[in-house]
Amino acid sequence: MTEQFDGLRLERGDTAHIAALIELERHCFGAAWTAEQYRNSLSRDGVCLFMAWSADRPVAYGILETIYDEGHIPSLGVIAPCRRHGIGTRVLDELLAEAMRRQLNAVLLEVRRANQAARSMYAASGFELVGVRREYYWDPPDDALVMRLRMPTV
Ligand SMILES: CC(C)(COP(=O)(O)OP(=O)(O)OC[C@H]1O[C@@H](n2cnc3c(N)ncnc32)[C@H](O)[C@@H]1OP(=O)(O)O)[C@@H](O)C(=O)NCCC(=O)NCCS
Repeated sequence: MTEQFDGLRLERGDTAHIAALIELERHCFGAAWTAEQYRNSLSRDGVCLFMAWSADRPVAYGILETIYDEGHIPSLGVIAPCRRHGIGTRVLDELLAEAMRRQLNAVLLEVRRANQAARSMYAASGFELVGVRREYYWDPPDDALVMRLRMPTV
């Protein structure tokens, strides 16, 4: 059943939010990095985290990392009861706005071939299929589709 949520707040996260981030990632993907891995990742230049909060509860997150002139989204998720309310798209928009501020040329990501929900969301935001990494995922095994959005030049 879909849950109602109040006044969504989208904010930049940092190492103070690692416990919430691990909980979100476990919920969305069944597994998560360790706190140490997140601390290392979030301390690197060019890595930024956005978190969405509803009534002081974390409901979604997304990460953008910068590699030269390209962005990469390694992870994005919304807790199951809050899906199909546009929250995933709002988190994605925030990551893309950050990519614009950083004047990146493109943003890339990998998505499971079987993940129709995420593929549809990325396609609706303009991402296009640019490649396939065969058997990139395990547990369960799946191909990764590589999707790319070229950022508009200003
Ligand atoms: C993928 C995910 C982030 C989408 O979040 P969301 O908040 O439900 O997405 P939105 O409400 O913004 O949906 C945007 C569009 O994506 C598509 N979409 C989203 N969920 C869908 C589903 N279950 N089936 C088909 N299309 C779907 C629709 O086109 C939707 O627009 P619409 O609701 O107007 O039809 C969410 O399902 C999730 O967290 N999944 C588990 C983690 C994951 O797969 N992350 C992505 C890894 S690459």
